[in-house]
Order: sequence, then C-alpha cells, then structure tokens
Amino acid sequence: MNAPEDLLRVSKIQEAIKPSDGLYHLPNHFTEVALSQNGGATLRDDSGQIVAECFPIFKNGRKGIVIRTEVTGTNLVYQVRNLFPWAEFVQIFSPAASFKSTNAEQLEVVKIIDGFMVAHPNRVSAQQTAELQRLIWGTTSVYPTDLYDQESPAATKLVAIKQDQVIGFLLGFWGIKDTKLWLESQILGVHPNYRKRGVARILKEQQRLEALEQGIEVIHWTVDPLQCPNAYLNFNSLGAVATAFDPDHYGFTNQLNLVSASRFKMTYLTSPEVLNKLNGIFGEEDPEPTYVLAPDWQVIDAEPQADLYLEVPADWSELQRTSLDEAMIVRKKTDQLFVRLIGCAEKKYVIGRIKEVAGHFFLVAKEYSKLKDKLGENLE
Ligand SMILES: CC(C)(COP(=O)(O)OP(=O)(O)OC[C@H]1O[C@@H](n2cnc3c(N)ncnc32)[C@H](O)[C@@H]1OP(=O)(O)O)[C@@H](O)C(=O)NCCC(=O)NCCS
Repeated sequence: MNAPEDLLRVSKIQEAIKPSDGLYHLPNHFTEVALSQNGGATLRDDSGQIVAECFPIFKNGRKGIVIRTEVTGTNLVYQVRNLFPWAEFVQIFSPAASFKSTNAEQLEVVKIIDGFMVAHPNRVSAQQTAELQRLIWGTTSVYPTDLYDQESPAATKLVAIKQDQVIGFLLGFWGIKDTKLWLESQILGVHPNYRKRGVARILKEQQRLEALEQGIEVIHWTVDPLQCPNAYLNFNSLGAVATAFDPDHYGFTNQLNLVSASRFKMTYLTSPEVLNKLNGIFGEEDPEPTYVLAPDWQVIDAEPQADLYLEVPADWSELQRTSLDEAMIVRKKTDQLFVRLIGCAEKKYVIGRIKEVAGHFFLVAKEYSKLKDKLGENLE
C-alpha cells in the first residue's frame, strides 16, 4: 500500500530522527511480503523509504492498528484511521522508547522446565535474540529488539533462557483480514548447542496457550517443505498440518536457504480437543500408502483415498551446501508436486506427519475431503 500524499510529509521529520545504524529496520522480506499478508501496511516517503509500519493487533477483544514509527506531532493517527476503517483503535509505538519503562529489566517468567526457563523478554534478553538470530541464519538483517517490548505490536514475544543466556526465541504477529483473525508465527530459532531438547516445542506450546487464552483459534506460519527437523517439530511433536503451498514465497536466500523460498502454510489449531482429533486421524496409519519417491516424485496411479508418502531429502541444508545444482533440481520437482497436491479442496491433500522408512524420509499426506469429514472442521 502506498502512502497517501499527506503522509509523505512526515518523511521529512522521519529523516531527521531516523537512526542511522538501521537499529529499527525490519527485514525486507517482512515489510515487502509478510506484513501485508497479515493485513498490515508500510507507509513510505516519495523516495520509497519506509517511514512507518502499520501492524494489525488484537487486544482485550478489540481489533486495532499499531503504527510503529518515530514520527510524532503529525496527524498520523487520523490518516491511518482512514486507511483502516475497520480498526477499533489506532495507537503509536515508538521503537526508540521501547524497554524504557521501570520494569524493562524485569523478566516475566512463564515456565521453568528441565534447566531452562520460558519468559517474556526484558531488555537484555531481547538484545540476545538478535545475536542468536545472526548466529543461526548468518544474516545481518534481524528482527529488531524493540518488537519484544510488551507494548510492541508483536503478538508472541517469547524467549528460552539458560544461565542468563537466550537459547531460543519465538516471535509472532497478529493477522487480521476481512473477518479472519489469526496469529502468524514469524520466526523461531534455537541455539545449535541446545537443539533436540524440546526447547522449540515448549516455546510453540506456550504460544498456543497464550493464543487460546485470547480466543484465537488458529496459528499459521510458513516453513520450507524440505526441512526434516522442522517437519518433526511441526507435524509429529506439535500436531500442526500443512494446508497450502506457495512456491518461491519470499524470493530471498540466506545461509540456510540457498535456493528459492518455497513454503508450506502451516495451520496449528489451538483447541486441545480439535488438536487431539486431528492427531488421532494422522495417528491412523494406512497399511497400503502410495509412495512418491525421489528422484522423480511421480504420483503413479494413487489409490483413491490412500495416504501419500512423499519423499523428502534426508538433509536439505547439507544438500544445498554440497550440491547446489542438485538442490535446485530437487526444489523444482518437489515444487511441481506440492503445487499439484497440497491444499484444502477436493482431490487435494493435507500433510500431518513425517516418517522414516528404511533410511528414507516421507511426508504423510491425507486427502483433504476425507480429513474434513472426520474432523468436522474447516482447515482453510
Ligand atoms: C527447527 C528448530 C527450531 C527445532 O528446535 P529444537 O529445540 O531442536 O526442537 P525440539 O527439540 O523442540 O524438537 C521437537 C521435536 O522435533 C524433533 N527434532 C528436532 N530436530 C530434529 C532433527 N534434526 N531430526 C529429527 N528430529 C528432530 C525432536 O526430536 C523433537 O521430537 P519429540 O518432541 O518427539 O522429542 C531448530 O532446529 C532451529 O533453530 N533450526 C534453525 C532455524 C529454523 O529452521 N527455524 C524454524 C523456521 S523459522
């Protein structure tokens, strides 16, 4: 969304006070793609520079907009109100003023488990999330730490801490579009030395509980369909399902994503009853599934209603590092397969498990219409 003429004037003020070190700058793929998908918008000056981000938020049962900006003393709130006529309130959040309150040093501990704690961050732990993000993704463009302030427009602000060090973090935003309200989980990371100890699972479960408390029925996020560790976490541990597929979702690359960013859209239902039902359905194994094998990924005469076992590479990150050409072919072929198969519609499939069979890894897909009949819920 482009800024209306009146808003462009605020850029002059913004220029004067904009931090020069990019401290508050959000990653490009977020401002270019994700924010508008969540129902928000960026406001830009005439040179295309972002002067404010408008985040949809849900607070105390009301839907509104938080403008994240350093611009003050203008009629910005009035202007944004016109851009989002549905908003029940519009507020301004200043990144520069974040973590300035008297309790900014206070960690709000949520849980203590197996030698680590889950908390809502204070100033120090928020800063550590940025370091951890750089370590995991090898990128300088990280989510700014002001987003972890309790007043920020983010919906999920969680850290896992061991001996005063952040070893995991989870950040999410609200999604509001038309009548739809959801939580969009944006980024999750666990320090390489502390993986496979349940840190990510516990952070995600806490996110679900917080969403449920606020009456949110569904959490979405996107994930690379070929990353086995994420599949184990998302499908087998959490019970989330892949309900849609988007090839080349972001159009960016980094250390962990060297080829195009194809993504599954994940759906994580917050109600324990519905989640249990869904887990039960995916717990029932088809004795005669249709295998779809690498290197061709051809679906040959799938039995109607049979589960599909879709092969994925054992170590996708490693394949991208060691053989980029092969990885690109794998990406292209699996993209074609997922575009054809995945979705919430007649003759399409939803993925809800990963399985290892004789050293090969398979995503387990069930036909959507069959799933919907049993679940009685719409997964779209
Ligand atoms: C994906 C990631 C967040 C998982 O974090 P984690 O703390 O190791 O995950 P957990 O220990 O909670 O794992 C949850 C489950 O997945 C399984 N799992 C995790 N990594 C696995 C792997 N490499 N291979 C097989 N299973 C794995 C665990 O065994 C566990 O199963 P359980 O619940 O039955 O015990 C972590 O590997 C990571 O930070 N990766 C890089 C960044 C990334 O991809 N982030 C997510 C997308 S934004």
